Amino acid sequence: MPFDVSWPVYDDRERDALTRVLENRQWFNGEETRAFEVAYAAFQGAAHGVACTSGTTALEIVLEALEIGPGDEVIVPPYTFIATATAVLRVGATPVFADVDESWCMAPAAVEAAITPRTKAIMPVHFGGSMAHIDAFKSLSDAHGLHLIEDACHAWGSASKERGAGTIGCCGVFSFQESKNLTAGEGGIIVSNDEALAARCRSIVNCGREEGAAWYHHINLGTNARLTEFGAALLLAQLERYPEQLATRESRAAQLDAGLGAIPGITPQPTPSEMTRRSYHLYCMRFDGAAFGMSREAFLKQAEAADLPIGAGYPIPLYEQPVFQKFQGRHDYAACSCPATEALCREEGLWIQQTMLLLPESEIAALIDGVKAIQAKT
Ligand SMILES: Cc1ncc(COP(=O)(O)O)c(C=O)c1O
Repeated sequence: MPFDVSWPVYDDRERDALTRVLENRQWFNGEETRAFEVAYAAFQGAAHGVACTSGTTALEIVLEALEIGPGDEVIVPPYTFIATATAVLRVGATPVFADVDESWCMAPAAVEAAITPRTKAIMPVHFGGSMAHIDAFKSLSDAHGLHLIEDACHAWGSASKERGAGTIGCCGVFSFQESKNLTAGEGGIIVSNDEALAARCRSIVNCGREEGAAWYHHINLGTNARLTEFGAALLLAQLERYPEQLATRESRAAQLDAGLGAIPGITPQPTPSEMTRRSYHLYCMRFDGAAFGMSREAFLKQAEAADLPIGAGYPIPLYEQPVFQKFQGRHDYAACSCPATEALCREEGLWIQQTMLLLPESEIAALIDGVKAIQAKT
């Protein structure tokens, strides 16, 4: 079977980790979680880590910890997973969509234009692990007194000028769901250099408790979003293997950049020159039907027939999802228009999943040849 990668990856390290937790009989709120928080925060270059159940809950908890709620606006991209925007809705605030640019991330000019007196935060997504425009967002958020929340759910290990994703804004949020490069099936973490913010997040994750205080003492409106010890132990094992996988993905992505990038009509997502490491959750390409010689739909049909692991990605911008179209708040999502995102969804976007970037070089070469063969028929 070509282009086949077993995922998630595990070996005796994960087996031993799970057995260790099982036999310890400490299945929640223990040493594995603390150890993973410290190890992951250090890996990103952050002072604090607060583990939780998912990237989605991590986003909601950060927004709650920053006291963002009804009447407030948060600027988000429309080209991302639904949770980036619905986390804002779930705390009672309003997501305002700012279009992406050729980086596949939000365009600074679109973000600036979306700022109103109600804006409380800018929440860029490091799409596919690419930390585009992070310095521009930092300047904008500083100039306007806004929180900069990094949705780094694709960016484990990504760094810009050696600064880890999630450490440039007030905090960063990561997902460990099963499709992710670092996974325990489900899980998430918030990293921050702000001790007080991290403590508020930790309290919310743990039923509003105060660190070190009595178990039935609750100082904040919290929830139970604790990662299990099994999840933390798995993640500790996965993190050990991760730097090697990251290097492999970077190398395969460079091979794809050279091979696919030379084909007329295919433009790989750029990596900003300031980036010193990139996770590659997705390998993204912009497809130009006129230059390639066929529509994206025709290309995808042929790619599928040739078993090439290439997909179209998100089918519609987030504001076209029913949850937003039927939204009865102050914002009229039916009137939203983000042309660059619409073009990516409707005719330009192509994705290769991160697991494919673990294939041997020979299979990456076969993938490139497969795309060339489709074009040769036009
Ligand atoms: C950009 C982005 N943000 C947030 C999330 C939510 O993470 P989780 O699935 O762990 O809730 C995802 C998951 O796909 C994501 O891709």
